[in-house]
Amino acid sequence: MRKRFLILAVLLTLVILPACGGSGNEEALKIAILAPLSGDVATFGESTRDGALLAIKERNAAGGVLGRQIETTVEDSQCSAEAAVSAGNKVIDQDGVSYIIGEVCSSASIPLSEIVEAKGVFQISPTSTNPSVTINEDGSTKSAVFRACFIDPFQGTVAAKFAQEQLGAKTAAVLLDQGNDYVRGLAEFFKEAFEAGGGEVVVWETYTGEDQDFSAILTKVKAANPDLLYLPDYYSTVNLIGAQAKEKGIEAIMMGGDGWDSPDLDTSAVEGGYFTNHYSADDPRPEVQNFVATYKEEYGATPDALATLAYDAANILMDGMEEAGNDDPMAVAKAIEGMTFDVVSGSIAYDEHHNPVKSAAILQVENGKISFIDSIAP
Ligand code: PHE
Repeated sequence: MRKRFLILAVLLTLVILPACGGSGNEEALKIAILAPLSGDVATFGESTRDGALLAIKERNAAGGVLGRQIETTVEDSQCSAEAAVSAGNKVIDQDGVSYIIGEVCSSASIPLSEIVEAKGVFQISPTSTNPSVTINEDGSTKSAVFRACFIDPFQGTVAAKFAQEQLGAKTAAVLLDQGNDYVRGLAEFFKEAFEAGGGEVVVWETYTGEDQDFSAILTKVKAANPDLLYLPDYYSTVNLIGAQAKEKGIEAIMMGGDGWDSPDLDTSAVEGGYFTNHYSADDPRPEVQNFVATYKEEYGATPDALATLAYDAANILMDGMEEAGNDDPMAVAKAIEGMTFDVVSGSIAYDEHHNPVKSAAILQVENGKISFIDSIAP
């Protein structure tokens, strides 16, 4: 009788103990990655997914977060407001996700942040640079929305100063897609800074996201003959405008923002141009060079800024979870507010609007290659 009881007790222990929380058996923590994997800016999504997945893979191999493995869901949110909102609702309501890395594009991240706030979920955008991603319309900071990148008032100012001080630009033409939060914002911040520095914006023309033929507005640029042509759009549109501008014989130096960063940027269309960016793979810091080597080994390609910032965003989130000590998105947000992070793109701490304070890189397209020119601190 006693012996039977003992066997039963041993059996029960074997079955029950591991089920209620011995280390490796706890439920996985879920993180969703929302990025544009199709459409005009698909390279943005591919890099973002690959960078984030690499960070998570490394963390899982080292034992996970809070002793639990991370499980990922990847959604194609298409750089669009509608797709990002429906992907956000899906991962939160159906998959039970409380942590989102994404989106890439500001006009997708802003509406996504609104449902994230309403549902008490955590979001970190690796690369959305428009100020409204982390702040509400009344200027207050969203409780659990962060980013891993600088913001466009800084990026626009860095571009304007560089154009004036290093390129000697006195006049500029600015072409923008009025319907895109990122493009419109960056255009406005650039204009403000360029004028504050004594420059003159001689052409300010808008187009829509569907436009393919820019000859009408480029004719105005040609007539005004500015020193600089500022194109704060994504690479796919910049490829079109740049090629058509060169065809028209426009000689202004072209300049743009982080949206130019893509292996599919048509370097001949923007030859001689400059753009501001988050990082350069040529940065000699060991953190950068080690990451470039690991990423190359994993994917056979050099990481662009999107891959790097997605890797950083995933690490910021996972460090925050570890620091919070529990799986509560609001506690993770509070923890991150007080931390500093040594990530690949630099050493960062958050300001009161959940924006990291960090430098921008200036890159040049020269003889078909992209080279690192300078790094500008805030
Ligand atoms: N900053 C862009 C946005 O806010 C996204 C982007 C970041 C694109 C980095 C390319 C490189 O929409």
